[in-house]
Amino acid sequence: MDEWRTIIEPFRIHAVEPIRLTTRDERDAALVQADHNLFRLRAEDVLIDLLTDSGTGSMSSDQWAGLQRGDESYAGSRSWFRFLEAVQQLFAFEHVIPTHQGRAAEKILFSMLGGPGKVIPNNTHFDTTRANIEFTGAEALDLPIAEARLPSSRHPFKGNMDVEALRKTLEEHDVPVVFVTVTNNSGGGQPVSLENLRAVRAVCDEHEAPLYLDACRFAENAWFVKEREEGYADAAVADIVREMAALADGMTMSAKKDPLGNIGGWLALSDGELADACRNLLILTEGFPTYGGMAGRDMDALAQGLREAVDEDYLRYRIRSTAYLGEALDAAGIPVVLPVGGHAVYIDARALLAHIPPLQYPGQALAVALYREGGIRGCEIGTVMFGRRPDGTEQAAPMDLVRLAIPRRTYTQSHVDYAIEVCLHVAERAGELRGLRIVEQAATLRHFTARFEPL
Ligand code: F0G
Repeated sequence: MDEWRTIIEPFRIHAVEPIRLTTRDERDAALVQADHNLFRLRAEDVLIDLLTDSGTGSMSSDQWAGLQRGDESYAGSRSWFRFLEAVQQLFAFEHVIPTHQGRAAEKILFSMLGGPGKVIPNNTHFDTTRANIEFTGAEALDLPIAEARLPSSRHPFKGNMDVEALRKTLEEHDVPVVFVTVTNNSGGGQPVSLENLRAVRAVCDEHEAPLYLDACRFAENAWFVKEREEGYADAAVADIVREMAALADGMTMSAKKDPLGNIGGWLALSDGELADACRNLLILTEGFPTYGGMAGRDMDALAQGLREAVDEDYLRYRIRSTAYLGEALDAAGIPVVLPVGGHAVYIDARALLAHIPPLQYPGQALAVALYREGGIRGCEIGTVMFGRRPDGTEQAAPMDLVRLAIPRRTYTQSHVDYAIEVCLHVAERAGELRGLRIVEQAATLRHFTARFEPL
C-alpha cells in the first residue's frame, strides 16, 4: 500500500542536541530576570522553543556536507555560483544580491525606493519590512482581504491581497513598489493563491508599478496552492514556485525559513539599473556582490537547502505537522486562526483572554503563561508588536495573536503533544491570567527589547 494514513517525518535523526528541563519556580525567576519579555530569556531556560521558525531548522547531512565544500574566495567563489544557480532554478531573476538575512535585503531595496510621501502596500508587512519602510519616511500599508482579519473564517487563501483596495491605492498615491508576502506571516501564515497574484500583477501593470515578493515561505505557499487551488493538484511544487516568481519583478528573501538555512538571504530583481544601485549599497553595508553577507559555506548550505525545500514528501510532512498542532488546539476549543497556517499555529489571544483589553497585551499575557507553565516559548504578534505608531501613540493592533512557530525538521510529535498539553492547561485557567504594562520600550520594533510588569 502506498497511501498510509500516518504521515511520517521523511528523515531520521542524525545528531541530537539536549534540551534542559526546568521547574516552574525556575521559570518564574527567569521571567522576572527577563522583565516578562520572552526575547530576553536565555534559550537554555526554554524547553520547546516555538519563538520562530527563522534560522532554527535542522540542516540535512547533505547541507552539512555543503559546508565542507564552501569556497571562501572573496570574489567569484564556486559557492557563489552554486548558490546563484540554485536560486535562479526557482526564481528566474537576472540579478541576485546576497545578504546576511532578509531584513538586509529590505533595507537596501527600501533605501532605494522608499522616502517621504511614498506608500508601499503589502498583503501584510512583517515587522522588519514595515520598520524598514517607515525608517525611510514612507508609509507601509497593509491590504489583506477582509477574511484575513476574521480568525474564524476558513477562506483557503487568507493571505490574498485586496485587489480593489490596491487599485485605489495605486490611483491615489505615489507607489514605488507593491509587495506580496508568501505566505502571509503576520496574517497567520496564510497562503496567497496564484489567481490573486495574477490579479495583483494585472493592477500593477495598469499603473506600471513593480511587484515584489517577500518570499521566505515560498515553498509552503506553493504546497498550499497544489493542495487547494483548482488546476494545480498535479503540478510540481517547483513549477508552482517558478510560476509565482514569473509574476513578479523581484523578491526579498530570508533564507532562514523555507531555504533551510541558519542564516542568509537575498534580493533578486530584473531591473538592471536598480540592481546596480543596490549592489553599490550592498558593498557599503554587507560585502562584495558574490557573497554579500554570507560565508561561502553558507551559500553552499543554501544551494542544497533550496533543493530540499521543494521536496514534496518533506512539504507534506511539514504542513501536516503544523496542522496537527492547530487541529488539536481547535478540537479542544482553543481559538486559533483557521485554516492552520504553514509554519505556525496562531492562537487568538484576544478571544481566549477576552477579559484583558488589547492595551494590556493579551497576547503577551498568554505567551508568558505558556512559558511559565510549560517552558514553551511562543511569540506575541499583536499590540505589543504592531501597536505603537510612528508618532509614538498607541492603538490596538487588528488582532492579538500568539504564534507557535514550528522550526523545520527539529521537534518530534511527542514534543508537539507536550506543547498541546501545556496549551490546554493554560487555556483551562485563562480567566486567572492578568495583563501587563510596558515600563520601558524602544521607538521602533519595541517587542524585541521592551520591559514589562504584570498588572
Ligand atoms: N519577511 C517575513 C515575512 C518574515 O517572516 C521575516 C522574518 C522577514 C521578512 C525578515 O527576515 O529575519 O531574515 O531578517 N521573520 C522571522 C519570524 C524573524 O520570526 O517570523 P530576517
